[in-house]
Amino acid sequence: MLVVLEDDDRSLSRDAARIVAHTVLSQPRVTLGLATGSTPIGMYRELVRLNREEKLDFSHVVTFNLDEYIGLTPGHPQSYHAYMARHFFDHVNIPPENIHIPDGSVRPSYDEYCAWYEACIREAGGIDLQVLGIGKEGHIGFNESSSSLRSRTRPKVLAIQTVKDNRRFFGPREDVPDCAITMGLGTIMDARKILLLASGAHKAKAVAAAVEGPVTASVTASVLQFHPHVTVLADRDAAAELRRTSDYRRIMEMTRKTNSGRLW
Ligand code: F6R
Repeated sequence: MLVVLEDDDRSLSRDAARIVAHTVLSQPRVTLGLATGSTPIGMYRELVRLNREEKLDFSHVVTFNLDEYIGLTPGHPQSYHAYMARHFFDHVNIPPENIHIPDGSVRPSYDEYCAWYEACIREAGGIDLQVLGIGKEGHIGFNESSSSLRSRTRPKVLAIQTVKDNRRFFGPREDVPDCAITMGLGTIMDARKILLLASGAHKAKAVAAAVEGPVTASVTASVLQFHPHVTVLADRDAAAELRRTSDYRRIMEMTRKTNSGRLW
């Protein structure tokens, strides 16, 4: 696991976008796994800028989103469909048929629908780079505490903390969804490379537990310790409870030296 200590959310977003851009440039037909939430907004903004100003081409990119709330139609302003359109898809040249986001309004059996989503990922050749945020209690996707470490895409009941954290996105009289369809931890672990983004003091405990704590289903992000290619970008506040920061800095320097200044 490569832990990159970022000064602030700005440098984190810029580096995250650089990593995604580098991946797209070196493999134009790349399959990206994408996350929503507050953390990757700056990364999407920077990718949109690179597309506009530096002609970063997304025309062969295929995407799979991690999750979607159950009960919200794709047109609902707080759905992850709407989020992705607002922050990214409406502004870059990814063909709509290359975009996959779980549909939280499906009525047929979830088993069938989730198996179909998994089959689409397999048919696309698997995910090359999966971008993740991390919840306050250490979830990735909506794999809350006690999720099976080998789980696949499935419906999941959200933790009370997650519902509370998500309330800020909904109006005072709106119900906040308490269930979601999410890629499983096994699905995420199948990605060839993983990029975890963490910003803000409220993530410090989760980051320390995920990176330096024991691997446990109580902090599902800790399963990433078993993955051979994970990069964690954490800003100063999110990294505040990490203990091995001097080691991470040394590894960052060594990686940069051997990689013509790049971390990726
Ligand atoms: C979103 C997702 C979640 C978020 C996490 C952090 O697609 O899968 O795991 O990444 O809840 O959310 P923010 O970034 O809003 O703190």
